[in-house]
Amino acid sequence: MTLLSVEGLTIDLPGRQPGLVEDVSFQVSKGRCTALIGESGCGKTLTSMSILGLLPAAVRVTAGAVWFDGVDLLSCTPRQLRRIRGGPVGMVFQEPMSSLNPTMTVGDQIAEARRLHLGERRGVALARARDLLERVGIPNAARRIGAYPHEMSGGMQQRVMIAAAIACEPRLVIADEPTTALDVTIQAEILALLRDLQRDLDLAVLLVTHDLGVVADFCDEVVVMYAGHIAERTTVDRLFYDPGHPYSSALLAAVPQSGQARSRLTVIPGRVPSAGGFPAGCRFEPRCAHAVEPHCREPQPDAPLGEGHRTRCGRVASGDLTLKGAVRG
Ligand SMILES: Nc1ncnc2c1ncn2[C@@H]1O[C@H](COP(=O)(O)OP(=O)(O)O)[C@@H](O)[C@H]1O
Ligand SMILES: [Mg+2]
Repeated sequence: MTLLSVEGLTIDLPGRQPGLVEDVSFQVSKGRCTALIGESGCGKTLTSMSILGLLPAAVRVTAGAVWFDGVDLLSCTPRQLRRIRGGPVGMVFQEPMSSLNPTMTVGDQIAEARRLHLGERRGVALARARDLLERVGIPNAARRIGAYPHEMSGGMQQRVMIAAAIACEPRLVIADEPTTALDVTIQAEILALLRDLQRDLDLAVLLVTHDLGVVADFCDEVVVMYAGHIAERTTVDRLFYDPGHPYSSALLAAVPQSGQARSRLTVIPGRVPSAGGFPAGCRFEPRCAHAVEPHCREPQPDAPLGEGHRTRCGRVASGDLTLKGAVRG
């Protein structure tokens, strides 16, 4: 069952830059995890922030729709959105300190959410906050509810952020690169925690990541973004075994295989163009190892490639090009 549906989403910088994100459509199903991947600057954060009305001030959604559980989120008032954020939809950001309140104890922050969204009394809410800190693996939870965010390590802060995100029994959690700011060993712990919570609480998750290992371990569906467009949309298995866009296969080739020397790593040559500098044809064409003229100098429509699989590569869609997958390790 579809819980979140993003349909034809277009995000502009009005008067300055149209099409930062253009015609983006995807779904997140109940209890499943959809990954949003792509290099830096492809539009992942704008897409995920637009869902709950958290775009930067100058940036606007100019077309499309976002449906969550039958509610048209783009038509909600700021007040209605505040009831959804931290309630039925939890959010985890890259930088925990940017979203935790530095002047409130972590226990009070979580309890506040329960009071606001569920109408609990302070004592009840604080007891629940302690349970939640325990659930996310914070030692001495009874004592730590009285701590301030700055008294905690980055990994512990991110656990608090996750506790806050799940505090009001959400059905969907949106997590934008939740481990990028953390040490590698801590990253693995936080992801394992998110995965456990997803299973235990039957959460739908939209996970923004640039780590294909995380996608393989954690996610069911995947949306590959390139230069403000969706390049490919498919299941995680299909992506790894039978990718449908040259950008996806280039990302797969760039993943270090165990035992492979670093110098032999394939890196995609060139860089993501910024809005305003998008090629008129396929946006990936200048960097694509499979580009042919004149075909790829034309805009590529988003085309079906089988059940639940879509690509913006006309060569793959027409059967003219078959790509190599990667073996999952
Ligand atoms: N507040 C903003 N004002 C203008 N341009 C922005 C703003 N935020 C992001 N952008 C531009 O939109 C594009 C997509 O950004 P973003 O969604 O942050 O990418 P990602 O999360 O995939 O790295 C980038 O080219 C970025 O420069
Ligand atoms: Mg981002």
